[in-house]
Amino acid sequence: MLKIISIIGARPQFIKAVPVSRAINEFNAKHDGFKSRIREILVHTGQHYDYNMSDIFFKELDLKKPDYYLKVGSHSHGRQTALMLERIEGVLKKESPDLVLVYGDTNSTLAGALAARKLHILLAHIEAGLRSYNMNMPEEVNRTVVDRVSDILFCPSKTAVDNLRLEGIRNSSSRTFPKVFLAGDVMYDAVLCYLTVAKKRSRILEKLSLTPKGYYLATVHRAENTDDRRRLKPILEGLSKIAEDKAPVIFPIHPRAKNAVRTFRMEGALQFLKVIEPVSYLDMLMLEKNARAVLTDSGGVQKEAYFLNVPCVTLRDETEWVETVDSKVNILTGADKKKIYKAVEKEVKFDKKKTRLYGDGKAAERIIGVIASQLSVRDKR
Ligand code: UD1
Ligand code: UDP
Repeated sequence: MLKIISIIGARPQFIKAVPVSRAINEFNAKHDGFKSRIREILVHTGQHYDYNMSDIFFKELDLKKPDYYLKVGSHSHGRQTALMLERIEGVLKKESPDLVLVYGDTNSTLAGALAARKLHILLAHIEAGLRSYNMNMPEEVNRTVVDRVSDILFCPSKTAVDNLRLEGIRNSSSRTFPKVFLAGDVMYDAVLCYLTVAKKRSRILEKLSLTPKGYYLATVHRAENTDDRRRLKPILEGLSKIAEDKAPVIFPIHPRAKNAVRTFRMEGALQFLKVIEPVSYLDMLMLEKNARAVLTDSGGVQKEAYFLNVPCVTLRDETEWVETVDSKVNILTGADKKKIYKAVEKEVKFDKKKTRLYGDGKAAERIIGVIASQLSVRDKR
């Protein structure tokens, strides 16, 4: 029996972990009775803890209850990462897993990676190789460090593989690590799996009295936008102008943005927006799918817009998901009020026979197959 510890803690990681956990179950069903069966232990750091930032995803999606809940909560970067590091180290020492799996680029990812690396436990990173080349982003620091110390790197795109190669991280032909794999994006797996379920179960459009293509959807949570009043103000004003002149703007507000609006006393800038609490994944898929366009600074939401053939306006100066911009289905506006307003007027055409930029929806299955084979090769070494 192989023991894997998955470290999660922030909203997008719950969603990314779902297809991977499912792939582990499917792998076990196929290998019933074999030594290579996988036991997954789920560690939730507690980085996100509000009901609709955490529990809701465990209730709604096929994700087992965490085996360990580390209750770290919100702190400065240093303290939050340090608390996670200490507590994850305790779990890893107790469990001695064969491999640690980390996702994305949050502080939970960084802490999980450092804890594993220092205990000489094999480390795999899902969503490796993404770069914004903006080191002021906490995520860029996290992902660069995590990629540097990972043994197995699962890239969602070819660009990500190339980014790693530029940093000297490449798949060696020898039997040593690191090993880099173009796996595809597990978030695409999740969309393919849950869109039909969302269509059946979600009542969010009725609840908010929305008609398909009769509204815009916006999310804002990047520290670079929320923590800088000179960026947050024009973004909210751009969204408000769209709501005033064109169609309602639905704004499921992230707690970081909510806090920032309060701190900067910008409540007035929200008056034209339809502000709602963060929603469940199934409701979010329905809101995205039926929006006229999505305006966001979220990585996950940019890609979901692409998967669902919905135009995206990215409220940032750069993106890690450069392929969507190159394909002209995603427009970067930065925090420029006029550009934001104009961007939603641009006609966007989705290529009917579009190339799959982020894999074929079987990324998780591929990842688990690779992990199982790498661990069995290691055992034979
Ligand atoms: C984190 C990640 C970011 C990711 C995002 C997904 C880091 C450095 N950032 O950003 O990469 O895109 O999650 O949503 O890891 N808060 C609550 N309730 C919660 C969680 C947070 O009120 O359940 C508030 C707290 O005031 C907290 C603030 O939101 O200080 C920010 O939370 P934090 O987890 O530090 O960063 P995010 O902005 O959520
Ligand atoms: N999401 C959600 N409810 C919301 C907002 C987002 O379920 O109210 C989902 C969204 O569909 C995507 C993920 O959360 O799967 C993106 O997370 P977030 O924007 O917090 O972080 P990022 O992807 O930027 O790291």
